[in-house]
Amino acid sequence: MSHKFSRREFVGVGAAAGVLSGVRPLGAEAPAVRSSERGRPLVIASANGNRYRNGGPRNCVEEAFERMARGEDVLDALVEGVQIVELDPEDSSVGYGGLPNAEGVVQLDACCMHGPKKRAGGVAALEGVRTPSVVARAVADLTDHHLLVGPGAQQFARNIGIEIEADLNTDRSRSLWLDWKRRTDPLHYLDPEERETALRRVADEMIAEGLVDSGHYYGTINCNGVNAAGEVCGITTTSGLAWKIPGRVGDSPILGAGLYVDGAVGAAGSTGRGEANLFALASFLIVDEMRRGAAPLDAGMTALRRISANTIEKRLLTEDGRPNFNLKFYVLDRTGEHAGVSMWFDERQQYAICSEGGAETLACESLLGERPISS
Ligand code: GLY
Repeated sequence: MSHKFSRREFVGVGAAAGVLSGVRPLGAEAPAVRSSERGRPLVIASANGNRYRNGGPRNCVEEAFERMARGEDVLDALVEGVQIVELDPEDSSVGYGGLPNAEGVVQLDACCMHGPKKRAGGVAALEGVRTPSVVARAVADLTDHHLLVGPGAQQFARNIGIEIEADLNTDRSRSLWLDWKRRTDPLHYLDPEERETALRRVADEMIAEGLVDSGHYYGTINCNGVNAAGEVCGITTTSGLAWKIPGRVGDSPILGAGLYVDGAVGAAGSTGRGEANLFALASFLIVDEMRRGAAPLDAGMTALRRISANTIEKRLLTEDGRPNFNLKFYVLDRTGEHAGVSMWFDERQQYAICSEGGAETLACESLLGERPISS
């Protein structure tokens, strides 16, 4: 905990925004919403949101919260926050220095949603840009689209003046990739079962040897915020699965999977095995559960149960038939109530928040209890 925020910092923001809130558009309305009350401003993120500072004074959740407190747009505040992690070479799961794909190329994914504006944007398999969060926001702000991918996303980034770099590897991410390449042959991936077994074996080896942080194998940052006016936004940004097949896109840039925001309800986002989440669109499920009245913790647990029930392939199951991967969700409702939930428990399954009291790292609630897991 490094910085406390005074309650006064919020009074002006809440009062000003209150004039605009309460206006409901005519026409079809979504089903009943759990609560319209205003609560406490809060930023929630995966645990790396309260870890990396890239040499600056604040980490992601502190930066985002401070900017919200100053009255900045919630999504703009979150984008400034996650950029700290994207630019920090020490986080090998996000942005610059993120672990590359099987061919040694860093491909990044991100998406964002703006609750009040009902706008969203994302990029996938984007190369050469350290901060995909900025490009995702520009897709939301400047285009009629929600998702740009690959060379098209890069061209769009270039066109809006973002520097394109030849290589986003750091010496560390490149040397880890070379080490991985020596241990397994990435070209032999035609049989999904054999490839999965080989990848898991090598990933487990490298995690056990301390070369790769287990949280960075599928690592990502999700960051969601609500201000004093109850305005909710969210963003998720990642380098995706380490050493993925080039072009593989996980859950992070997919609306409803890696992130979902409904301005009248709240937000949810994910880190962990993206394929499992994609099959359930679990961030949408969580927000929809909250819409029906569930608290953030219960909504998160419902999603984990759904994902567990969807997992039937032997290669994805433990000997006793439970999912052999981890997946986490960061859930926030528009009153500031929050939860972090993970499939499995261990002491690293944590999430970050920042409120008026400052930044904290909290333990996630787990669905399946304690089990030593590799990723
Ligand atoms: N959740 C990040 C990914 O699977 O790419």
